[in-house]
Amino acid sequence: MPPVLSAEEIREVNTRYHDVAADHYDSKWGIDFGELGGEQVLQKVRKVLGAHPGPFESSLEIGSGTGYFTLNLMRAGVIEQATCSDISPGMLAALSANAQRLGLEVSTAAADAEALPFPDESFDLVLGHAVLHHIPDLPTAWREFERVLRPGGTVLFAGEPSRYGDRLATVPKRAATAVAPLWRRVMRAGPAPPAEGGAPDAALESVVDVHAFAPGELSEMARGAGLSDVRVIGEELLANWFGWTNRTLEATADPNEVPWAWKWYAYRGYLALQRVDRRVLESRLPPAIFYNLMVSAKKPL
Ligand SMILES: C[S@@+](CC[C@H](N)C(=O)[O-])C[C@H]1O[C@@H](n2cnc3c(N)ncnc32)[C@H](O)[C@@H]1O
Repeated sequence: MPPVLSAEEIREVNTRYHDVAADHYDSKWGIDFGELGGEQVLQKVRKVLGAHPGPFESSLEIGSGTGYFTLNLMRAGVIEQATCSDISPGMLAALSANAQRLGLEVSTAAADAEALPFPDESFDLVLGHAVLHHIPDLPTAWREFERVLRPGGTVLFAGEPSRYGDRLATVPKRAATAVAPLWRRVMRAGPAPPAEGGAPDAALESVVDVHAFAPGELSEMARGAGLSDVRVIGEELLANWFGWTNRTLEATADPNEVPWAWKWYAYRGYLALQRVDRRVLESRLPPAIFYNLMVSAKKPL
C-alpha cells in the first residue's frame, strides 16, 4: 500500500520525481518531435476538436513536461504563441532545450496547476496531457483553468487514466509477467540489469499518480468550473493491451539483447492497433473501458 500523503507532500514528491525523470523522459516514453510525434498528437487533438483544430493565438499547457503536446502542436501550426507550465523545473529545462533545438520560442513558468501565476482571461487554449491524475485538488485546478481562459476559449486534456481501463490493463501486465522468463529464452535475451543511479525511484510512481477517472467525473469537474460544451471520449483499447504486454516483457530483459525484429514488431503492431481503435472501436464502445480519457470544453462567451 502506498503511504497516505498530504496534498503538499504529493506536490513535493511530484516535483522531485519529475526533476529526476526529466533527463531520460523522452527516450523512456518514445517522445518524438518529428513526423511521427506530430501525427500522434494531431490525431488525438482532432478526435475532440475536429479535423482542422485551431489555430489558437495563445495557449497555456499545464504539466507540459518536455513539450510533447505544445511543441508538436506549434510545429503543426495549431498553436501560435505558447506558454508551458510545470511543477518540475527539471522538466521545463528539458522542454526549453527541445524548443531551442526545434527553433521554437516558448515561455515557461514553474507553477502548480492549482495556483497559476497568470492574469484572468490570458489564453485561447488551456491544454494538458497526462497531468490531471497528478494534481491533488482538482476542483481548484479546474477553476484556475477557467479563470485564465478567455471567453470562447477551449480546454483540452488528453491521456488521463481511466479507472476501469486501468483495471482491465492489469490483465495483460500480469500475463506478460508470468510468461516473461519463457519470452526471454525465446528472444535469447538476458535479464534486465539493475536500474541506473539517475533513474526515478519506481516506488514513487504509486505516490505521484493520485487519481484515475470515470468519464462522468471528468465532465462534472469541467461543468463544476463553469465550462460548457463538455465532451469526454475514450482512446486506446487494443493498442494499450498490446503495448502493456510488450513493455512489461521488455522491462524484464537487458534492452541491448532484445532483438531488433521484436522491437519493430512491437512498434508497428502498436501503430496498427491504434488505427483499429481509432477507426472502429472508439466511436462504438463506452469511453470507460478505454485506457485513456480525453476531455474538452469551452468557456462560455
Ligand atoms: C506524466 S508527465 C506528462 C508530461 C507531458 N505532458 C507529456 O505528456 O509528456 C506529468 C507532468 O505533470 C507535472 N505535474 C505534476 N503535478 C503537477 C502539478 N500539481 N502542477 C503542475 N504540473 C504538475 C509533472 O512534473 C510532469 O511533468
